[in-house]
Amino acid sequence: MATSSLLPFPSLQTQLSSSKNPVLLSSTSKTTYRPPVRFRPIIASVSERPQPITVPEPDAKKKLPLREIPGDYGVPFFGPIKDRLDYFYNQGRNEYFKSRMQKHQSTVFRTNMPPGPFIAPNPKVIALLDGKSFPVLFDLTKVEKKDLFTGTFMPSVELTGGYRVLSYLDPSEPGHAKLKELMFFLLKSRRDHVIPAFETSYGELFDTLEKELAGRGKASFQQVNDQAAFNFLARALYGSNPADTKLGLDGPKLFGKWVVFQLGPLLTLGLPKVLEELLIHTFRLPALLVQSDYQRLYDFFYESSGFVLDEAEKLGISREEGCHNLLFATCFNFFGGMRILFSNMMKLIGKAGVKLQVELAQEIRSAIKSNGGKVTMAGMEQMPLMKSVVYEALRIEPAVPLQYGRAKRDLLIESHDALFEVKEGELLFGYQPFATKDPKIFDRPEEFVGDRFVGDDGERLLKHVLWSNGPETENPTLGNKQCAGKDFVVLVSRLFLVELFRRFDSFDVEVGAAPLGVAITVTSLKGASKGKGKIGM
Ligand code: HEM
Repeated sequence: MATSSLLPFPSLQTQLSSSKNPVLLSSTSKTTYRPPVRFRPIIASVSERPQPITVPEPDAKKKLPLREIPGDYGVPFFGPIKDRLDYFYNQGRNEYFKSRMQKHQSTVFRTNMPPGPFIAPNPKVIALLDGKSFPVLFDLTKVEKKDLFTGTFMPSVELTGGYRVLSYLDPSEPGHAKLKELMFFLLKSRRDHVIPAFETSYGELFDTLEKELAGRGKASFQQVNDQAAFNFLARALYGSNPADTKLGLDGPKLFGKWVVFQLGPLLTLGLPKVLEELLIHTFRLPALLVQSDYQRLYDFFYESSGFVLDEAEKLGISREEGCHNLLFATCFNFFGGMRILFSNMMKLIGKAGVKLQVELAQEIRSAIKSNGGKVTMAGMEQMPLMKSVVYEALRIEPAVPLQYGRAKRDLLIESHDALFEVKEGELLFGYQPFATKDPKIFDRPEEFVGDRFVGDDGERLLKHVLWSNGPETENPTLGNKQCAGKDFVVLVSRLFLVELFRRFDSFDVEVGAAPLGVAITVTSLKGASKGKGKIGM
């Protein structure tokens, strides 16, 4: 498999050593070349040097018809509000896109994206809803990604200490490479702590779930997962146990509030419609209201991350800016992503049924057994079904489903059926679940097929798995916008399944709605091992 490796974070070496993308370190007009950083050798999984992700220009010989982009933005002010109500309440997100796709008989069309007035003065986008047009969003020769992480509006920088954090920076900005290098440094220097911290934190999670099930007959996955995920990140990345600090167990709660102040304009919280429209979709919530909560998180990160902040200073980043970025990457990018992703996996594997679950348990336990009873990176490479299930979960329900890019110049965009002209400055928007469920790319696209990515044919499909803001076969670099935590996310998702199935043969869940992701209630955990790794070993 192109991106598989026996070693943690295989892409880090190539990320940091592209001679085609020299790391430009400068916040002034004088640009200095920084030689590639060399770490202890780790095997990179791709032999070539990393190339920028580009989408070939449309092939004139194929003669796809040139079509005007269908759709319109409606009457100013009212059009965007009507679309917002359709998106959140009248139709819901999937139907919002599906109905317009059918109406225009096109996977590329013009529409508004929420929130619109008054938070986002310009909600106009060109939607890309198929797996062929979507990847233009990764091609930085064609699109700019400045301030587009959350789409047509950007949350106040007061929510991040006055800084535009890395996720909002375009690679052409001087701060981008330095901050991304800091993220790679963090992940690289803590790699040996990941498996032990995961075993501790998720061991606690499964113990708690078992106790709650024994007492009440059911248990909320979200609550225990929030605490386990936060503890895991603090232990793995910073060597700190939140419970032993002033933060105590408040991390997930403080994060939950802070995230609503940032993403509120894109969420429904289950409040009455009128209240939600006024409170979170029309005006910004004042950042001041969450300042003291944010300060508590900041203090925790500042006290725990001294070794990373020392490195930040060496890279020319102030300790303060470094800390706000660490907080954002750990809490928003990762903790936020992990709570959605793990709940999705519980839902998808829970719904897939006992057969898949038992196969996973057998594969996982037998590989652990042949590795001396230990969970290791090498051992996880011998679990093809487990690896495929992780990719399938990332394909079918990408945790960050909305991506944006602004056309840097006049472009031609190609869907399966037509070519479309886009003008410089227009905002392109991709709804990823439609691109990764494109029936022209995947068989049975709507179905969760656990072994979809097993074998050579399966692995060839990995280039169409796009959750990390890039194909699964590509790697994040200092010069692109692919998720800095790509390998880390795949690793912890694998660890999650390993910990789950080394303990349990099968499980059942009930699925409910939640503002971000889904709410999972565990109703049974069967074959409890009374001590991990005992069953079948
Ligand atoms: C389930 C977990 C995660 C998901 C689903 C996820 C997804 C994404 C996506 C889709 C983007 C691109 C957004 C865009 O520009 O449109 C992104 C960027 C980013 N992610 Fe992740 N991510 C996750 C975990 C992590 C982790 C563990 C880190 C830790 C360092 C991380 C750090 C970043 C950073 C720093 C960026 C910005 C990259 C850049 O500016 O070049 N993410 N992530």
